[in-house]
Amino acid sequence: MQDKVPTGLDRKEAEAYRHLDPKRLPRHIAIIMDGNGRWAKRRHMPRVAGHRAGVSAVRSTVETAARIGIPALTLYAFSEENWKKRPKTEVDFLMRLLGRYLKAELPTLNQNNIRLQYIGRPQQLPEDVQKRMDWARENTSRNTGMILTLALNYSARSEIVDAFRSILKSASQNGGIEDLEIDEEMVANHLYTRHLPDPDLVVRTSGEMRLSNFLLWQLAYAEIYVTSTLWPDFRGVHLLEGIAEYQKRERRYGGLNGDHAHPQPIPAEFDITDDDDASEPQPASKVR
Ligand code: FPP
Repeated sequence: MQDKVPTGLDRKEAEAYRHLDPKRLPRHIAIIMDGNGRWAKRRHMPRVAGHRAGVSAVRSTVETAARIGIPALTLYAFSEENWKKRPKTEVDFLMRLLGRYLKAELPTLNQNNIRLQYIGRPQQLPEDVQKRMDWARENTSRNTGMILTLALNYSARSEIVDAFRSILKSASQNGGIEDLEIDEEMVANHLYTRHLPDPDLVVRTSGEMRLSNFLLWQLAYAEIYVTSTLWPDFRGVHLLEGIAEYQKRERRYGGLNGDHAHPQPIPAEFDITDDDDASEPQPASKVR
């Protein structure tokens, strides 16, 4: 579709990028990274080996997204449920992995002008991890390119609960709740993602067809792309394939596009009257 390819893409990525329309890139992509355990199991390795391999997928995906000019990328790294339902050894490993990732990737994030931020309830994470998170955020805060958001100890339902609490708190500090009028904009302005546009595209790896409590409010109109690729095998080129699929879709936001958007008269035999029996309309020739 176009010849100009951003620098830094490898041969496969450049080939995939050529099929994209750079004027219609998603403004925000959200990814549910899944399949680390299955990746390890297939190789007769412990689950943590899958998480470890998942870091290369994070690196490739983040760099490619930044290089092609995606304004915002959000990665679902650890859900609130992950803490409750996984063995402590695995959770502790994931914490150490996150700490190491933040330290090791800082130069790459800066080289790619990426600003790092988080969503979730960080106060429930180990203190040393919180410190490392603050350090990495601070050290990328002057970057002006892609916003990379890591969802850590995140749950969409908790986020909505926190938004309600935040609305009530600010109302009580500003004259009470008697005159409080809540609309969609107000709710959105109290979510963790208030500084981000809603995702246009959500990607889930490993073939599962679930949202798993991820950005439930913000994904209302997102296009969903599910790939059977397991997360540790996912690379920038797979992200570009997802974007190509997204660009093929017709986004309607509940409305109609093209010819259908024009008013269409309703033929009498299809119309509904009060004494209708609501059965299928008969072809005109059979209507008495
Ligand atoms: C889901 O796979 C993955 C996770 C719960 C953890 C995600 C972590 C990473 C991708 C690695 C590190 C990330 C950062 C940001 C440093 P799963 O274990 O549920 O896989 P399964 O469904 O096959 O068991």
